[in-house]
Amino acid sequence: MMIKEKIESLRKELEEHNHNYYVLSRPTISDLEFDMKLKQLQDLEKQHPEYADPSSPTQRIGSDINTSFKQVKHKYPMLSLSNTYSEEEVDDFYKRTTRSLHEEPELVCELKYDGTSISLIYENGILTQAITRGDGEKGDDVTENVKTIRSIPLKLHGNYPPLFEIRGEILMPWNVFEALNKEREEQEEPLFANPRNAASGTLKQQNPAIVASRKLDAYLYYLLGDNLPYDTHYENLQAAASWGFKISDAARFCKTKEEVFEFINYWDIERKNLLVATDGIVIKVNSLAQQRALGFTAKSPRWAIAYKFKAEKALTRLNSVSYQVGRTGTVTPVANLDPVQLSGTTVKRASLHNADIIEALDLHIGDMVYVEKGGEIIPKITGVDKDSRILIGDKVVFIKNCPECGTPLIRYNGEAAHYCPNENGCPPQIKGKIEHFVSRKAMDIEGLGSETVNLLYKNEMLHNIADIYELDVAELAKLERLGEKSAQNIINSIESSKSVPFERVVFALGIRFVGETIAKKLANAFKNIDEFANADLERLTNVDEIGERIADSVIRYFADEQNKQTISRLKSHGIQMSLSEESMKKQSDKLKGLSIVISGKFNLHSRDEYKAMIEQNGGKNIGSVSAKTSMILAGENMGPEKLKKAEKLGIEIVNEDEFLKMLSEK
Ligand code: IVH
Repeated sequence: MMIKEKIESLRKELEEHNHNYYVLSRPTISDLEFDMKLKQLQDLEKQHPEYADPSSPTQRIGSDINTSFKQVKHKYPMLSLSNTYSEEEVDDFYKRTTRSLHEEPELVCELKYDGTSISLIYENGILTQAITRGDGEKGDDVTENVKTIRSIPLKLHGNYPPLFEIRGEILMPWNVFEALNKEREEQEEPLFANPRNAASGTLKQQNPAIVASRKLDAYLYYLLGDNLPYDTHYENLQAAASWGFKISDAARFCKTKEEVFEFINYWDIERKNLLVATDGIVIKVNSLAQQRALGFTAKSPRWAIAYKFKAEKALTRLNSVSYQVGRTGTVTPVANLDPVQLSGTTVKRASLHNADIIEALDLHIGDMVYVEKGGEIIPKITGVDKDSRILIGDKVVFIKNCPECGTPLIRYNGEAAHYCPNENGCPPQIKGKIEHFVSRKAMDIEGLGSETVNLLYKNEMLHNIADIYELDVAELAKLERLGEKSAQNIINSIESSKSVPFERVVFALGIRFVGETIAKKLANAFKNIDEFANADLERLTNVDEIGERIADSVIRYFADEQNKQTISRLKSHGIQMSLSEESMKKQSDKLKGLSIVISGKFNLHSRDEYKAMIEQNGGKNIGSVSAKTSMILAGENMGPEKLKKAEKLGIEIVNEDEFLKMLSEK
C-alpha cells in the first residue's frame, strides 16, 4: 500500500473504533490495540507532514500549545429554555401551544443534560468550528479543545447536509468528576462544585492537552441549517445519529401529555443511574413547521420548555456548627444536624462553605434547616424554615479565633475563606504539613501514614518537616505498634527521599497554592532554593502561570523565620535544593550574554521550553523590553506595545523558526 493510502485507512479505522467505543459504547478492539494503531498513525504523520489533516484522529490528543480564544458571532443566537417546576406549568405549555397551533402538537421528551452547551459547525462533513454559548450572541471558539472529545465526530459519514450546525451539551461523567476532584484535593487545588462547572472550566482551559486528559463526553440535541433532511425534530436526531453523533436514546416521542408525565416520573428516579448529570427534562414540539409557526420570544423558543427536577430536600435540626482546620490553615464551617434520610443516605453533617453563606442564611442554633444534595458532593444547607422557630437560639457567627490553637483568624482580600495564620504552631497544620511532605507525589516516604505522624507528634518526636531527618531506628522502635523492622523501613525510606528531585521538594514544602505543576514551574525558573527564596514579586510573576496570588503566598512563606530555619535544616540533611545537573545541562554558549524577551504565542514549542532553551544555551530570559534587551523571540500576536518599543530601540526580533535555526547551526 502507498503511504498516503495507509495513512487514510488508519484514520478511517481509528475513527470507526472511536465511534464504537465512545458513541455506541461497543468497542471491538482492545485499548492496547487502539493505542498501537494510533501510535503508528502518529509516526506516519510525523514522517509525512505533507499528508497532514486537521480532522485526523491524532488531533484528538490535543497539542500542548496555549491558545487564547477568538470570539465568534453565532449564526443563530444560542437561546435558553423557559423553566417549569410543576405539572400545571407543563399543562399550561401544552394548552398554550395547542391554542396557537389550532391542533394538538406531537411532542418529543428528552433529558436535560446538565453540562455546558456547545454549537458545532460541520462543513462538507468536517467539524470546522465549535463555539461556546458565551452571551448567546457571541461565544468563544474552542474548536481545538472540542476536537479532543472522543464522542464528537471530526468527520461524518452517510448523507449529511453540506452545511449545518448541531448543538448539544458537553459533560463530565460523574466518575471522571470524582477522580478529578480527588486529585485536586490531594494537591490543594480548589475543588469543582459539580460536573457542570468542571466541564465548563475544562472547556475554557487554554491547553488542549489538559482538555484531552479530562475525558469529557457530549450529547447532541438540536440541529440548525437550511437543508435538514426531515421536517421533524425526532427524525433529524435519528439521522444525526446515523452520521456519527452521540444522540441520547432516552428521547421519546409523546402523543399525549399523560405520556409526558410518565416520562418525567420515570426519569426522576432512573436518572440516578446515569453516568452523567441531568437536571430535568426538555419538552419540544416535534414538527419543524409547527416550531416555525410558534417562533421565539427574545429569550427562548415558544416551542420548547424545560421541566426541572426538584432537588431532593430534607428538613432537619441544626445542633451546632464546628470548624475544621486544613493543612494550609483554611477554616471550613460544618453544620452538625439531627440525622436525616436524603437520596438514600443518612446525612448528619453539611458544609456551610464560608462566613458569607452563614450570614446570608441568617442561621441560629436549633433552627430547622433544609439540606439538599443537588449536583454537589457534600450536602449543603439551602434555607431555614423560619416559621418553625419557636424559641430562637444563638445566632451562628463565624469564629474569630482558630478552634485548634486560638490564633486570630485572617481573611485575605477577595477571598471567601478564613485562615489560621499560625502555620508552624497549629496542630492540624503541623500534622497536615508533615503528611503532605511525606506523600507519594512529594517526598514519597513510606510508613509515615497519618496515624504514625499523629503518634510521633503526640510523643513530641515530630514538630516540623525537618525533624523527620533526625528520627532514628531505636527511637521509632520504642513507639507502640512499631517494631524494629518497620522502624528500619521508615528510616530507609527517609534516607532515599534525599534523592527526590528539587521540583518535588518545592511541592513538598506545602506552600499555599503551590501544587505539583506550579512547583515544577518555579523549580525550573529559579533552579535552586536560594534564588527561589529571594525572588521578589516581579521575578515571581514573570514566571509562566504565576500570578500575584501565588507570588504573594511564596513571599509570605519565605519571610517566615521558622520556615527559613526549616529550609536550612533540610539543606544540612542533604535534601535536593537545586535542579540536578541533568536538568540544568548546558548545551552551548551560543546565547551567552544575551538578554532575551519571549513574547506572543508559539506553535512549535511551549513558552517554558523556549525559556529552558535560552538558559541551556547560556542566555538569560527577561520579562520586559528595555534598552538592555538583546533580542526578542516573537510568536504570533506579539503585543503591539512591545513591538513598538522594540522597533524604537532597534532590538532584533526573531521568529521561532529563525530562533531554532540559530540554535541548530554549528
Ligand atoms: S434544546 C433554544 N435540549 O439547557 C434552546 N437543551 O436552559 C434549545 N440543555 O442552553 C436547547 N439538555 O444547554 C435542549 N435535551 C436538551 C437539553 C438542553 C440540556 C441545556 C442547553 C440549553 C439549556 C436551556
